[in-house]
Amino acid sequence: MIEGTICTPETVDKIGCYGNALVCVNQQGLIASVLFPNNSQYGEIKQTAISQGNYHQLAADEYLLPGYVDLHVHAPQWPQAGLALDLPLADWLDHYTFPLESKCSDLNYSKTIYDSLVKELLSQGTTTALMFGTIYNDSNIILAKACLEYGLRGFIGQVAMDNADQTPAYYRNQSAKDAIDATELFIKQLQKLSNDADRVVPVITPRFVPSCSDACLQGLGQLANKYNVPVQTHVSESSWEHGYVLDRFKATDTSVLDQFGLLTDRTILMHATHLTDDDMDLLAKREAALAHCPISNAYFGNGVMRVKEILAKQIKLGLGTDISGGYSSSIYHNIRQAVISSRMLEDGVDTTKQATTRGVANSRINIATAFYMATVGGAEALHLNTGRIKEGYKADFQVVKSHPSVITLSDEQMIERILYQTQQSDIKQVYIDGNLVYCKD
Ligand code: GUN
Ligand code: FE
Repeated sequence: MIEGTICTPETVDKIGCYGNALVCVNQQGLIASVLFPNNSQYGEIKQTAISQGNYHQLAADEYLLPGYVDLHVHAPQWPQAGLALDLPLADWLDHYTFPLESKCSDLNYSKTIYDSLVKELLSQGTTTALMFGTIYNDSNIILAKACLEYGLRGFIGQVAMDNADQTPAYYRNQSAKDAIDATELFIKQLQKLSNDADRVVPVITPRFVPSCSDACLQGLGQLANKYNVPVQTHVSESSWEHGYVLDRFKATDTSVLDQFGLLTDRTILMHATHLTDDDMDLLAKREAALAHCPISNAYFGNGVMRVKEILAKQIKLGLGTDISGGYSSSIYHNIRQAVISSRMLEDGVDTTKQATTRGVANSRINIATAFYMATVGGAEALHLNTGRIKEGYKADFQVVKSHPSVITLSDEQMIERILYQTQQSDIKQVYIDGNLVYCKD
């Protein structure tokens, strides 16, 4: 049980802040109730928890927030975070990233980097991560075991990439069959490893359309249908990538994925900076989700995701770090960049004439919307009941220490500042399913 001030997303652009909340967690790791002092049972329930040694009172300058969902991480790229961002996407993959990922054929190396990554994500307030692994089954199992060991809820993809035109010989599946078989094996391995279906979950992961043959995409679509597991891939990320798919298929990658049965209500598509209106309508129809990676997009995207329009179409939308296309492991940094990028998308609109010669009118989002994406949006994409501090939701929390203020701030102002100013060292504790998984010493 935790007592203190809670901040939880309420609507897509409103955060609720409530003082003196008593957050009770049940044996299943779910929030059993959120009580306030006006409730007649408040005192008794609190006393029982204290006597059972199951009570954590937050300090006056600490706030309880939901843990974040990081909807896009490349786990094998963790050693490269903050490095090597001087090339455009295709060259960056060839020059830096494929050689780096291929090192994961070494399982000792895999264990070292995956232990480090999982601990890092927890210390950033991330409680669920949707991750790409590599083409190596055994290495991906090591990542899954690191999640189970340290408590991170991990959605993990066995990467499929068999197209000889777009992948190097030293790092590719030898055939479409090889990629499909490895994916199916991984689904079975992970389902066996996890007793609780939500703790480590296998994800069908064609790297992106350019790196996969038609036969590979076809086979993965059949697996999506057979196993009803999540699907993740990059779409319309950059001018080059978007253009490559248009050239090869005379269609956008969103519609190509749909043709191969890869656009389901469990699909999460990364980046999507170049979606057409038809793509958005198709995504809404299929109830697929998107991952916005605003830091990475500033480097590789050649464009800004049209977040406002996507949300208006009720498409599920979360936030991702995209380690290491994004240099940071922090969802806080991406919350801030999401707001900044939306302002830059809008910038240049002549509001008197509503001309859109440069910017796109009405694009700006506020920090509450970015917080919503980092919590509820990501949770909805993964079909998880997490991301809110509310009865029935998973007890996935972060305790954050606020920075001192020289003037008195309302709780609403306080959360705004927390979202803009929190650093890794301000995150004091992290809970997943009610279990303490990180405590800053
Ligand atoms: N497209 C294909 N692979 C990748 C990757 O590793 N990172 C990003 N950002 N885009 C990709
Ligand atoms: Fe990516």
